[in-house]
Amino acid sequence: MVDGFGSGGPRHWRARLARGRREAWLTGLVRQVRDGTTTASAGSALDVVAGHRDADGDPLDARTAAVELLNVIRPTAAVAWYVAFAAHALHRRPDQRKALRDGDEAHAEAFAQEVRRFYPFAPFVGGRAVRDLSWAGERIPQGSLVLLDVYGQHHDPDLWDEPYTFNPGRFVGREPGAFELIPQGGGDPRSGHRCPGEGITLTLLRTLAARLALLDYDVPEQDLTISLRRIPTRPASGFVLTLLKSAIPSPPASSPVTAGKRPGRSGPASF
Ligand code: HEM
Repeated sequence: MVDGFGSGGPRHWRARLARGRREAWLTGLVRQVRDGTTTASAGSALDVVAGHRDADGDPLDARTAAVELLNVIRPTAAVAWYVAFAAHALHRRPDQRKALRDGDEAHAEAFAQEVRRFYPFAPFVGGRAVRDLSWAGERIPQGSLVLLDVYGQHHDPDLWDEPYTFNPGRFVGREPGAFELIPQGGGDPRSGHRCPGEGITLTLLRTLAARLALLDYDVPEQDLTISLRRIPTRPASGFVLTLLKSAIPSPPASSPVTAGKRPGRSGPASF
C-alpha cells in the first residue's frame, strides 16, 4: 500500500488490491471485538476505533472503522522507509553511530530530523488551486496542478549550509521553523493539512535508529542507489544486513531504546 501511493500502473493496482484485502480483514476484526469473540489490548488503535462513538452516541459502521484503523496503520508502517534511510546514513557515516549508541537523546532527535531532510521519501507533493491566485508574481488559475518541490526545499543552498552533507548537528538544540523542514507538509497541523503523525514518525524513527546503531552487522554487497524518479523511493535493494551476534545487546540505562532484550535473529534481514 505504501509503495503504490505515488504511482500509476501495476504498483498502483497492487496497492489498491492490498488495501481492499486489509479493509476486509479489519472490518471482520472490528466486528469480532464488538461481539466479544476477539479482545483488543486496552488503548490500542483497534480498541479505540472499535469503541468510538460519534456525537450522537453511535458507533462507526464496521467498514468506516476499518478504513480509520488503516489510516493509522498504513502511515505508521511507512516509517520503515525512513528506517531504511537511517540504515543507509549509518552505513555511509559510521561516525554517527556512537552518539546514538550512547543514548544521546538530543542527537537521536537531530539524526531523525536530518534523515527526513536529507532523504527523499516523497520528493514532491501536489495539490489543485481551489481558486485563481498569484504566488510570487506568478498567476495560478483555479484548478491548476501545483507541485511543491520538497526535495529542492531541503537542498536549497540559500536555506541550508552544505545541503548535500548529512549533518544532524544542524538540528541539535533547535526546533525547525514551521515552513523550514517540510517532508510531512508545512504550517500548523491544527489549522492546515500538515501531517498530524509527525511526532509519531519522529519518535519511531529516533528510537529505531538508536536500536539499529546498537546492532553489530555486516552489509553484504547490494545496490544502495536511491532513485529520485520513484515515489516513494528507497535504496534499490532495501537495506539488507547480516547480524553478527546471536543476541541484540541491551541498551544503556539512559538510552531511549526500551526493547533491547529481544532474542536476535541470525541471517539476512531486510526492511
Ligand atoms: C513516513 C512517514 C510519513 C510521511 C512521509 C507522511 C507524509 C505526509 C504528508 C506529505 C501529508 C500531506 C501534508 C499536506 O498536505 O500538507 C500527510 C498527511 C497526513 N498524515 Fe502523514 N506522513 C507520515 C506518517 C504519518 C503517521 C505515522 C500518521 C498517523 C499515524 C500520519 C497521518 C496523516 C494524516 C491523518 C494526514 C492527513 C492530514 C490532513 O489532510 O489534514 N502520517 N502525511
